[in-house]
Amino acid sequence: MARRKKIYEGKAKVLYEGPEPGTFVQYFKDDATAFNAEKKDVIEGKGVLNNRLSEFFMIGLETIGVPTHFLKRINMREQLIRQVEIIPLEVIVRNYAAGTMSKRLGLEEGTRLPRPIVEFCYKDDSLGDPLVAEEHIIAFNWATQQDLDDMVALALRVNDFMSGLMYGVGIRLVDFKIEIGRLWDNDFQRLVVADEISPDSCRLWDIETGQKLDKDVFRRDLGSLSDAYTEVARRLGVLPSNATHMPKPTLIN
Ligand code: C5P
Repeated sequence: MARRKKIYEGKAKVLYEGPEPGTFVQYFKDDATAFNAEKKDVIEGKGVLNNRLSEFFMIGLETIGVPTHFLKRINMREQLIRQVEIIPLEVIVRNYAAGTMSKRLGLEEGTRLPRPIVEFCYKDDSLGDPLVAEEHIIAFNWATQQDLDDMVALALRVNDFMSGLMYGVGIRLVDFKIEIGRLWDNDFQRLVVADEISPDSCRLWDIETGQKLDKDVFRRDLGSLSDAYTEVARRLGVLPSNATHMPKPTLIN
């Protein structure tokens, strides 16, 4: 049997050539990394949860008319996606101060922002994904002014959708990151939400208790990451059974 072609391996996912031209298979690994991969671990079941959660969010976005790269889930860890040209920017939307924004501006974590704030970081691990201004993006040709306007609009629609969805299950969407890709139709391009949307790329706090249900649990050693992600999936009804936490066989004497 021929081995399928690996296109790219990232920190949490692998991309393989898809069954048809213009498609990729996106495989979700169990690897967790933080602080630009200075901290690493393998969290059993994380890939399964993120595959399901990302599918759930992307399908939801499609139903409200936000285009994404998602085509269909193939199995527990893989989904079929459209091949897109990733814009080399991380698009971050923040509703409350946390993480690097709190550090940068001296704001207490959890401070409500006057309105959602969209930030851009240049995707380059060797530089630690630095925050950049729209001026840099246009001057260095990473995107056009029109792309930027479209990216902000897309990111704010994702924020409205995700905030509402999370609020409905008692979770505050503090912030999140998305990546955006160009999909070409002859000479015309469409911008679509790409990569993944999962608790790896969002900050999710329980509204009542403030408990963190996202990757900060791993970054800050706050307990079991898979328990946190399973709780998000359970509340959203994404995993009806505890599929990633299969009980270990017990020895009967
Ligand atoms: O670290 P920072 O506060 O800038 O992160 C903002 C949001 O973007 C968080 O939800 C974080 O999980 C996400 N993020 C990400 N990948 C990165 C940087 C940030 O998913 N490389």
